[in-house]
Amino acid sequence: ALITLRQLLDHAAENGYGVPAFNINNMEQGLAIMEAAKAVDAPVILQASRGARSYAGDVMLRHMVQALAEMYPDIPVCMHQDHGNNEATCLTAIRHGFTSVMMDGSLEADMKTPASYDYNVDITRRVTESAHWVGASVEGELGVLGSLETGEAGEEDGSGAVGKLTHDQLLTDPDQAVDFVLKTKCDALAIACGTSHGAYKFTRKPTGDILAMSTIEAIHHKLPNTHLVMHGSSSVPQQLQDLINASGGEMPQTYGVPVEEIERGIKMGVRKVNIDTDCRMAMTGQFRKIAQEKPQEFDPRKFLIPAMDEMKTLVRDRFERFGTAGHA
Ligand code: G3H
Ligand code: 13P
Ligand code: NA
Ligand code: ZN
Repeated sequence: ALITLRQLLDHAAENGYGVPAFNINNMEQGLAIMEAAKAVDAPVILQASRGARSYAGDVMLRHMVQALAEMYPDIPVCMHQDHGNNEATCLTAIRHGFTSVMMDGSLEADMKTPASYDYNVDITRRVTESAHWVGASVEGELGVLGSLETGEAGEEDGSGAVGKLTHDQLLTDPDQAVDFVLKTKCDALAIACGTSHGAYKFTRKPTGDILAMSTIEAIHHKLPNTHLVMHGSSSVPQQLQDLINASGGEMPQTYGVPVEEIERGIKMGVRKVNIDTDCRMAMTGQFRKIAQEKPQEFDPRKFLIPAMDEMKTLVRDRFERFGTAGHA
């Protein structure tokens, strides 16, 4: 059954676990996530970016999510808009059956320009008011995602450069977070702590100077009842980098967010953990492997079945390590 983000994260908070939110663009990613959830009895957050909506189409996504919910009747599913850039994106998502939306007002609607605090408060408050009228949840974002090493944003919504960012912008201010939640009434708050989107987050295994878990701790201290969201939370596992590079890939060595840091975050109020890159790498690693090992193969299913299996393994591991398993 479809449920809201608020329902899901309230339960997660009461029981002290976190929920990974996986991006989907197609049937195979949806099936891999639901199969993993069924195997360990975990509730699910599926999220679609604006890019996913234009890739699959709103009607296709709506029916796909309905089909997944029907196929796995015992698994609660929240369908969430990832990085909504304005009211239109958020409200059309709800119209197409999404039970939750992210209004990302940390950037202007072009998703390239850091927004003012007042802009962020105003647009997030307006979206939250509308969404709550019709029973949908809202995630806001305060602080801009990006690297504390370089000041670069990474791939915020895949739409390109944001320009150099200061530490002030890259780390959410705890006092401002209190004011933001009070004024917007958002159901969950995405914070910035040095993670960024995509595979190239850190040039070394991150320590406290470049992955500021202390920022999360400080926010949780002031906002103990707010559901916190970590974006850019792929771990970019070495095993998947090796899988891709062993079969003709050319991904430079890189480091993601260690799963044990996310586990620490969950103890500090992190309830939703956004993961896209790891799932992409799992599938693509198998595409490359099959293409190299069986150059005579041309049935897409022979690529997609191992790709789904690799993604299912990854997803199941996150359900287990975040404590989501057993809570469906
Ligand atoms: O926020 C970024 C997510 O990984 C979605 O990426 O916009 O390429 O679908 P996308
Ligand atoms: P990753 O690129 O680390 O998977 O982050 C995904 C994300 O934050 C989607 O909103
Ligand atoms: Na989101
Ligand atoms: Zn994100």
